[in-house]
Amino acid sequence: MCGIVGYVGNKEKKEIILDGLQELEYRGYDSAGIATIKGDKLNNFKAIGKLKNLREKTKDFSSDGFGVSIGHTRWATHGKPTELNAHPHRGKYSYVVHNGIIENYQALKSELQNDGIEFLSQTDTETIVHLFEKHYAQKSDPFSAFELTIERLEGAYATLLISEVAPDTIFFAKNGSPMLIGFDGEEIYFASSDTPIIGKATEVCYLQDGEYGYAKDGEVILFDASGVKNIQKQPLATDKAMAQKDGYRFFMEKEIYEQSSVISDTMIGRIMDDSIVFDELDDSLFEGINAIKICACGTSYHAALTSSYLFERISKMRCDIEIASEFRYKEPLLDEKTLFITISQSGETADTLEALKMAKRAGLKSLSICNVDNSSIVRESDCAILTRAGIEKGVASTKAFATQTMVLWMLSLYIVDKHSIITDEAKAIEIEAMRRTPKALAITEKLHGKLHRLSKRYLHGHGFFFIGRDIFYPLALEGALKLKEISYLHAEGYPAGEMKHGPIALADSELFTIALMPKSMHYDKIKSNVEELSARDATILAISPEPFELADDFVQTLQSSHPMLEFFEMMVVTQILALEISVRLGNDVDMPRNLAKSVTVE
Ligand code: F6R
Repeated sequence: MCGIVGYVGNKEKKEIILDGLQELEYRGYDSAGIATIKGDKLNNFKAIGKLKNLREKTKDFSSDGFGVSIGHTRWATHGKPTELNAHPHRGKYSYVVHNGIIENYQALKSELQNDGIEFLSQTDTETIVHLFEKHYAQKSDPFSAFELTIERLEGAYATLLISEVAPDTIFFAKNGSPMLIGFDGEEIYFASSDTPIIGKATEVCYLQDGEYGYAKDGEVILFDASGVKNIQKQPLATDKAMAQKDGYRFFMEKEIYEQSSVISDTMIGRIMDDSIVFDELDDSLFEGINAIKICACGTSYHAALTSSYLFERISKMRCDIEIASEFRYKEPLLDEKTLFITISQSGETADTLEALKMAKRAGLKSLSICNVDNSSIVRESDCAILTRAGIEKGVASTKAFATQTMVLWMLSLYIVDKHSIITDEAKAIEIEAMRRTPKALAITEKLHGKLHRLSKRYLHGHGFFFIGRDIFYPLALEGALKLKEISYLHAEGYPAGEMKHGPIALADSELFTIALMPKSMHYDKIKSNVEELSARDATILAISPEPFELADDFVQTLQSSHPMLEFFEMMVVTQILALEISVRLGNDVDMPRNLAKSVTVE
């Protein structure tokens, strides 16, 4: 994910671009850059890190009067987060910004290098600007050169290009990555989403894949493969908060729906044909390591617990999990052959951070799995893997959990791969399942509608038990936590096989059991556990691919051969169920009482 903004008009361009990028910073903050052309004067600034660094660099620069400008905030895919790799990328007389991945960039780059062109960056994006200049040298017509350039690109892109050979024009193209055009009279804006242009533009056109064109003299000319197209404008929302929710009622709801796409961001560049690659990990990290200890809190702890099954089963590596606040005071025995992993969405959780410092003092190597680059936990760790979930605004964590779990699953395979203790066939099964995860996270209207209807039965009662076995036990804990947080109803997660050792005493029709019954893992065992509860009159909501005759309510999930795919699908069901119950109870879904997004106190 990267964010792009563009503007053609008379206003102060720098401010429009920087303010727009601020709204998109959640899409990436490895570096940012801006390029403007006014008459024959071209200016370009780049800075690594957050946007504030670019603001500082451009503080004495002003750019009012007619001109064009493009800006970019980067989340690195090809090449490290350096200034040279920051966008806009330049040729001899043109600049380009791009969001997406040009899949055939290696072939294009070799072709251009053979022509004698020198590349300054390691990015795929730089090929676009050199291709444009190559075609311009042949055609002497900037738009034809841009059209020919776009024809050569394979992959996903939303791109803006400006050039001294057309100083009053922005060329644009979209395929697979988001881009829209905003209009306010003669002023024309481009952006990756509508928040940067709310309050500036009055109308918007959401571009479709395959569309491209140029903006000039207060007009936009739009094309697709069949020729010139009419521009479909619509009024632009005026409420930023509403727009940020992309039409969803709550941030939490938006984030639940986003999981299917952000999980692809988590995987991008890390899953190769037959192996897992983490460029951010040093090969020496696992040298001499024979065990893993993971510390985390809350939802992140549930991701950790899930992974403990994966590390032992897939990686054959001993794995202990600790709640960070407990770990800190138990005087733990730590061994330097143990890799210490912390998991945190925010990277600022005080208990987790302190646990990490303790482990470091004891000489352990450390790895953090985190959603926020440069956070305290990331900085404190020897190395870090970013989950790339994007900003999570709902206090009840959803997409952070999904992406943490995905990173941990990939890490379990990465470890075995390094030690070659897995068959090619077993590896291929895991990788194939990982690739299918975005689909398992997709939500149909039918499913959401069903959960909405079901939720009305579950607004009272004396408690909920979420039950599951194996990896579905941490998922049960997480489902119960989600419900507790936003419905304020009492809910517990329990290992299904453990109910008979005490909690079953609570069973009656007012005890709601949410049973996670995957077909690919211990189905018969959990079925017996649920039957025991049903025999004692507990109200059962079964979530399973297999219809269950004793269930009072039943949500059917897809049949899948891999438990992790069932895991992710059931995770979504529990999240939406919690959301719908909370909405019916009239609670504040995004900011539940007594909670905070980042817990920086002990
Ligand atoms: C629950 C939730 C919390 C956090 C916990 C740790 O929805 O968000 O339980 O998981 O406070 O926070 P991080 O992951 O930021 O360390």
